[in-house]
Amino acid sequence: MIRKLPQDFVLGTTTAAYQVEGSTDADGRAPAEWDCWYNRPSSTFDGKTASEFYIHFKEDIARCRQYNIKALGISIAWTRIIKNEQGEVNEAGLAFYREVIDCCLENGIEPYVALYHFDSPLFIFEEGEWLAPNTVEQFLHYARVCFKHFGSRVKHWITMKDPVSLVVNEYVTGLFPPAEHYEISKAVHALHKLLVAHARTVNLYKSMNLPGEIGIAHRAEAVYPLAGSWKNERAAALDDAFTNRFLLDAVMAGGYSPKTLTDINDILARDNDSFAPAQAELATLREAAGRMDFLGINYYTSHFCEAWSGEDDIQHNASGLRGSSSYALHGVGRRLAKEDVPTTDWDWSIFPHGLYDMLLRIHEEYPAKPLYVTENGLGLHEQLPEPDANGARIVEDDDRIDYIRQHLSAVLDAMDEGVDVRGYFVWSMLDAMSWLNGYDKRYGLFFVDYKNQQRYPKKSAYWFRDLAKSRIMLTVDALRTSVLAP
Ligand code: BG6
Repeated sequence: MIRKLPQDFVLGTTTAAYQVEGSTDADGRAPAEWDCWYNRPSSTFDGKTASEFYIHFKEDIARCRQYNIKALGISIAWTRIIKNEQGEVNEAGLAFYREVIDCCLENGIEPYVALYHFDSPLFIFEEGEWLAPNTVEQFLHYARVCFKHFGSRVKHWITMKDPVSLVVNEYVTGLFPPAEHYEISKAVHALHKLLVAHARTVNLYKSMNLPGEIGIAHRAEAVYPLAGSWKNERAAALDDAFTNRFLLDAVMAGGYSPKTLTDINDILARDNDSFAPAQAELATLREAAGRMDFLGINYYTSHFCEAWSGEDDIQHNASGLRGSSSYALHGVGRRLAKEDVPTTDWDWSIFPHGLYDMLLRIHEEYPAKPLYVTENGLGLHEQLPEPDANGARIVEDDDRIDYIRQHLSAVLDAMDEGVDVRGYFVWSMLDAMSWLNGYDKRYGLFFVDYKNQQRYPKKSAYWFRDLAKSRIMLTVDALRTSVLAP
C-alpha cells in the first residue's frame, strides 16, 4: 500500500559520541571506562579514531542536509565536559558541542541530544558507577552544566539511552565492563539508580524553565512466550519485567507496579536478594513521570521465551556467525530463535511486529505521552564496491531499506490505532563502532571507509533522502500477519 507520512513527522538519523567521535585524547577529555576496556590485550578494536566525527562533523552534518535529514541524534560525552570527580568543567569540551549544535542549527537540522549513552568517565566507573552513592549527584552536576550552556538552543533532550542494555551487559552478560556474569541483582539495583538519575535530571531541567522538551530512550524488546505452557508464559513475564516493565513503570507511571515488584523479586530470589525502593526515590520518580515530555523507543529485536531451570548460559555472537548465541537464565527463562522469524547474522530476530506491539502496549498501559522511535536500524557485513560506470561506489543495502520500510510500516500501523508517534530515527547516520562487534557490523546510511575516513552514501541514504522529501512510502502489508504462538 502507498502511504503518506504526516508532514510534521520527524525523520532523522542518530549517532552516539563514543561510537563515532574518536579523538579520545583531544582537548582535555577525561578517560572513559571504555578506553581501558578496549586497551585490553584481547580487544581487537577500540574507539580511538572511530568514524572521526570529532574531526569531520561539519562535513557530516552538511551531508545530512543534502540528504534531507532534518533531525540528528547525537550524544554528549560526559568525559569531554567534566574533567574529574571534583566536577571541574572542561571549556574545550563545551566549545566542541557548541560548534556541533550550532552547525546542526545552521544547516536547518534539529539536534536531539542525549546526555548519556553508556560512556561513563573512568573516575565514575572506578567508584562503582551506578552502584556508588555519589554517581547520581555527579550526573546531575554534568547535566546542569549542559542545560546551562546548550539549553537555549537544544529543544529535545534525552537523559539517557538504553539503560536496561547497559546494566544487562555490565552485570548479566558480562559483555561490558566490569564484565560481571549473572549478577541480576546488581543489574536491578544499578538500573533503579539510573532511573532515579533520569528522574532527577527531568526535574532539574523543568526547574530551569528552558524552552525545550526532555525524555528518555528505552531499548524496547517485546518478549513473547513460546507456545505450550503456562511455564513459558511465566518465563516471558519475568523476562519482560526486567527488559521493559521496570523502566516503563518508573518513567511513565512514576513508580513500580505491584506486579512488576513481585516479578522482579521473584527473579532476585535466585540470588537471595530483594528490591524495595525508598519512598523519597519513588516521590522523585512520580514527580518526573508527570513532567517528562516524551518517551523514546530504540527498537531492534524481540524475544521468544521458554521456561528454563538449567544453568545460566549466555553466549554472544560477536562475529556475525549465525546461530552462535544463546541466552538462558536459571529461574527466569531461555530465549530461542523462532523458526518462522528471520534473524540477522548476529542472531537478532527481525520482527517489526514487535515494534508495533510495544508502541500499542505503551499507549494502552501507560499515561499518554508522545513517542519517538529514537533508534532503529539493521547491522550488516558490508564492503565498499568498486566504482561503477559513473565512478560512484554505492553499497547496495536493499536489506536495510526493507528493514526500515517494514519498521516504519509498523509505526504507521500503530499511529492508525491512535498511538501518538512523532518521529523516527535511523540508527545510524554513518557507520560507527559497535560496542561489542567493532567495525564489521555496519548500520550507517553512509559508508565509512576506515582506511581513510572517506564517506560514501549507501543506496539507503538515497532512499531515505527521497522518502524525507516525498513522504510517500510503499508500506508492507503483511506486517500484522502473526507468527506468534497462538
Ligand atoms: C542500541 C545502542 O541499542 O544498539 C547502540 O543504543 C548500538 O549504541 C545499537 O550500537 C546496535 O547495537 P550493536 O551491538 O549491533 O552495535
